[in-house]
Amino acid sequence: MRAAVVGRPGQPPSLAERDEPSPAPGQVLVDVLAAPITPLDLLCASGTSYFGVPAVPYVPGVQGVGTVDGRTVWFPTTAGMAPGDGSMAGKAPAFEEDLVPLPDDVDPVALAALGLSAVAAHQALTWRGELTPGECVIVLGTGAVGQAAIQLARIAGAVRVVAAARSATGHARGLAAGADAVVSLDTTDFAELAARFTAAAPDAALLLDPLFGAPAAAATQALRPGGRWVNLGGSASETCPVSSSTLRGRSLRLSGYTNNELTRPQRADAITAVARWSAQGVLAVDHETVPLRDVTTAWQRQAAGSAQSRIVLVP
Ligand SMILES: NC(=O)c1ccc[n+]([C@@H]2O[C@H](COP(=O)([O-])OP(=O)(O)OC[C@H]3O[C@@H](n4cnc5c(N)ncnc54)[C@H](OP(=O)(O)O)[C@@H]3O)[C@@H](O)[C@H]2O)c1
Repeated sequence: MRAAVVGRPGQPPSLAERDEPSPAPGQVLVDVLAAPITPLDLLCASGTSYFGVPAVPYVPGVQGVGTVDGRTVWFPTTAGMAPGDGSMAGKAPAFEEDLVPLPDDVDPVALAALGLSAVAAHQALTWRGELTPGECVIVLGTGAVGQAAIQLARIAGAVRVVAAARSATGHARGLAAGADAVVSLDTTDFAELAARFTAAAPDAALLLDPLFGAPAAAATQALRPGGRWVNLGGSASETCPVSSSTLRGRSLRLSGYTNNELTRPQRADAITAVARWSAQGVLAVDHETVPLRDVTTAWQRQAAGSAQSRIVLVP
């Protein structure tokens, strides 16, 4: 079968012919329909992740959509986090108990683009972030997590959703996803940035933050007393210049979120909800479909930030 193979940490995968994987006890072989290239895939293959340097060669892809015995399923893998192969191949091994059945009317590529990005957005908003109807939410970034979070905040009953983006394209993506306003992150002037957030989202109750860094610190200035700040990524920076007086002065609650803490039923419930909203046409993220044979250039574009949207590989 054809597969993307990472031969060396830090190098993009290349296409190779491989034997079909032999499923371990409890595993099945999934006929892959779609596999997204996500920041987690890039991080794991870089060899610099907190999971350590991956054993090579391996097939990347921490999630995918495929079929097993005629059923369409979403499936996770631990590729790059633990020894074993992932979803960027014609066939992928997955644990039977991890499979999530999908409705017939869901588009496999659209669902693959949403995948764990939408799960993270949903769980960080509603579970960790305790979003309640009528609240105002700030969503940083308009990548896959950001686009999903804007729509999911609305679905959860947010009365106002304010997005933030650094580029004109990102700005347009935020509005297309349904944000009431999009704060431009095109300045390094902290006071100016904070003023933009405060003007756009006075009395914000929840900050959904996949960026960290200066954008997050500025956005906290718009949070109301007791406001919640959920960080789930560091796309802008690994550190954040927030002041103690901001945190304690408004009794803000800062929490971290990772999909890795979800139980299997929590993750399955979230994927099932995401699939339902996807099929209903109320949840989608911009994506581009790319043949698996072009994995090397697709991976490089996603890593360089030059892809305009989430890339989904199809075998
Ligand atoms: N904790 C979890 O379980 C979990 C799950 C999924 C994702 N994540 C994390 O969440 C983050 C976002 O994931 P994603 O899937 O949405 O990634 P993505 O689709 O690649 O989007 C990244 C976003 O970050 C923006 N960005 C990058 N650098 C920036 C900077 N210096 N200043 C302002 N904006 C910047 C990008 O803006 P442009 O569009 O202008 O390039 C883009 O909107 C990643 O760090 C990812 O690892 C965490």
